[in-house]
Amino acid sequence: MRSLIDILELTTAEIDELIAVAEDIIATPEKYAEACKGKILGTLFFEPSTRTRLSFTSAMMSLGGNVLGFSEATSSSASKGESVADTVRMVSAYSDIIAMRHPKEGAPYVAAKAATVPIINAGDGGHFHPTQTLTDLLTIKRKKGSLHNLTVGLCGDLKFGRTVHSLIAAMSRYTGIKFVLIAPEELKLPGYVKYEFLGDGKLEYVETTDMEAAMPELDILYMTRIQQERFASHDEYLRLKDSYILTLDKLANAKPDLCIMHPLPRVNEISVKVDDDPRACYFEQAKNGRYIRMALILKLLAEKDQPDTVRPGEPTTEITCSNPRCITSTEQELPQMFRCVDEEHNIHRCAYCDQKAYPKKK
Ligand code: NCD
Repeated sequence: MRSLIDILELTTAEIDELIAVAEDIIATPEKYAEACKGKILGTLFFEPSTRTRLSFTSAMMSLGGNVLGFSEATSSSASKGESVADTVRMVSAYSDIIAMRHPKEGAPYVAAKAATVPIINAGDGGHFHPTQTLTDLLTIKRKKGSLHNLTVGLCGDLKFGRTVHSLIAAMSRYTGIKFVLIAPEELKLPGYVKYEFLGDGKLEYVETTDMEAAMPELDILYMTRIQQERFASHDEYLRLKDSYILTLDKLANAKPDLCIMHPLPRVNEISVKVDDDPRACYFEQAKNGRYIRMALILKLLAEKDQPDTVRPGEPTTEITCSNPRCITSTEQELPQMFRCVDEEHNIHRCAYCDQKAYPKKK
């Protein structure tokens, strides 16, 4: 069963094809109006969402299909203690494809293993958000004409910002990409993203705390919200929440064709005065979410009988994931699953959430 949990389960050629289909949908929407007639999308949102859930709904409706689901965990049996696997097994019987968002990292991975229909990860905790990345890539392609040779500034909460993690993973596969990582010390990019995609000279990147100093070289400025709901300490959130606020004066030295992006919702990290600047692309970006999700639904339904491309993990009783945000921390009957990412240094990562572990050598 083909699902989409991590953006890297799609090859670059597949991403390019999804973008091409989305552009065709934008040009000739009537061609696709009945493409999913009789099909049902299940939207299981255990965590709040506006754009992602509604754009999935709009996508399926624009393909002539139907949608069922819930928009908060309290209105599902999760509030009675039902496991992710059981919920998904049931909803597989009521729908042809499922989009799922969950506060626990790795929950869509569990869902993909239990479901009998394709699962789309619509955001898992502070981990991944592959369909936002597809939206971002479509936006960049339409604005810049290409996904190569770009200096991309990522600003704000790079630690918990799942959209940033998936975007780096995807863009690291194009040529001539340089990342400028702009974040306070406490909200720097997690190690698993840095070492897997950027470290050891894999890709050019710099880390800075100074947004204005970085501004002149940027082709893309991707602003993010400080992810209040993922902080263990509210005081720490209050201290960091206004770390970066993009105003018109801070754009004084920016390129005239800079593309300012934001996955939204915005809190206060972009002044509303920036909205009328021709470089502001975030509302158009949100609009693109509908078309790329239409392309993805079409692809996964067409390929549903193809083999699972979800990353493998080996069940183990020797290591326990130490990430309190991992789905295994709440669903303790799940087997611990790890994969070895570096044999020389004995580094393993949790198959659900990517938390690092060093098992004892036998
Ligand atoms: C993002 C998310 O949910 O991670 N929003 C979205 O899907 N468009 C970003 C955020 O919540 O800050």
